[in-house]
Amino acid sequence: MNRNPSLAPSLALAPERATADRGAHFLNLVADRLAATEELIRKQTTSEIAFIDDASEHIFNGGGKRVRPALLLLSSRMLGNEGAEDITYAAVVELIHTATLVHDDIIDDSKLRRGRTTVHNIWDNSQAVLLGDWLYTTSMKMALSHDRLDVVRQLCDAILRMTEGELLVLQRLGAIDVSRDEYFDIIERKTAHLFATACSIPAIASSSGADLAALEQYGRSLGLCFQLVDDLLDFTESEAALGKPVLSDLRGGKLTLPLIMLMPRLDSSRRQRIEQVLEDRDFRRIEPEQILELVTCGGVVDEVRELAQSYALAAQTALERFPASEARDALEFAPEFVLNRRS
Ligand code: IPE
Ligand code: IPE
Ligand code: MG
Ligand code: MG
Repeated sequence: MNRNPSLAPSLALAPERATADRGAHFLNLVADRLAATEELIRKQTTSEIAFIDDASEHIFNGGGKRVRPALLLLSSRMLGNEGAEDITYAAVVELIHTATLVHDDIIDDSKLRRGRTTVHNIWDNSQAVLLGDWLYTTSMKMALSHDRLDVVRQLCDAILRMTEGELLVLQRLGAIDVSRDEYFDIIERKTAHLFATACSIPAIASSSGADLAALEQYGRSLGLCFQLVDDLLDFTESEAALGKPVLSDLRGGKLTLPLIMLMPRLDSSRRQRIEQVLEDRDFRRIEPEQILELVTCGGVVDEVRELAQSYALAAQTALERFPASEARDALEFAPEFVLNRRS
């Protein structure tokens, strides 16, 4: 195995994306603990099965922002209970997230992830399914090493909600009448729950009910903000910036909030353009530019962004009960990072 230890998470490599000193805190405050998390991930994803070794290296060294472990470590720092356990749990949430991505890319038949060819495209679907299973199970085994069943229960719930969210997406593939409520139910399950779990695990260990509720609220709001932004970036960014395909939700038959909001405002001929792509799962009859024009002219980009901002603010408000500290500052900055991210 020849992993590249110099390949730190791209979040830590992107200080130019941060604004002013508060951003630097977010990136730097737990840099040493993020490095320890990386090391643990590397160690735990080593296997005598060459495929597991190679495919893990491929997906973990491809980059990735490491947002979830960073949030967990910052939350732990803010509560003043750092130890070996939070490094383990930080690695666990990143393993869960990565397993999710490997499976999600098979489901979407996506070609690119973290700027690299997806695992199932380099190897095959069968092996990629098994890699995801192996990563999920390794994450649980690692979590169990600290004998905190309450934490493991939370992690299981996050995986269950995420799987349900992905299933709900599949059940509505190609549908033109996905409602706003359905959309929020889906993103809450598939994204926000794991964010809430990552942020609140340190409070489970410290057993303050009010801290736990506040950090769950923080993570949930930030997770909703994160997925709203992700769904916008699918329309507004380039493949090169994102390291994953663009316009892929519509092409994959998924109606996300920008189009859910836009549909009732369009006349029937314009609505038909969207319906045709949903039907074809391709840009055969409709040019991508025609869809982009509808989205940009319809004003929905700004509206979804404002909604994302309101969740960012809700996340920041949830931190008010905690005494001022550098870690709280960094957590307060995280929603700004999420709103301004371009990858
Ligand atoms: C992608 O998550 C999946 C979503 C929840 C939208 P990230 O944007 O955190 O992916 P990486 O880890 O940085 O690649
Ligand atoms: C699915 O969300 C990822 C999960 C949270 C399961 P997306 O489908 O939007 O993620 P990307 O865009 O492929 O990263
Ligand atoms: Mg996807
Ligand atoms: Mg997406």
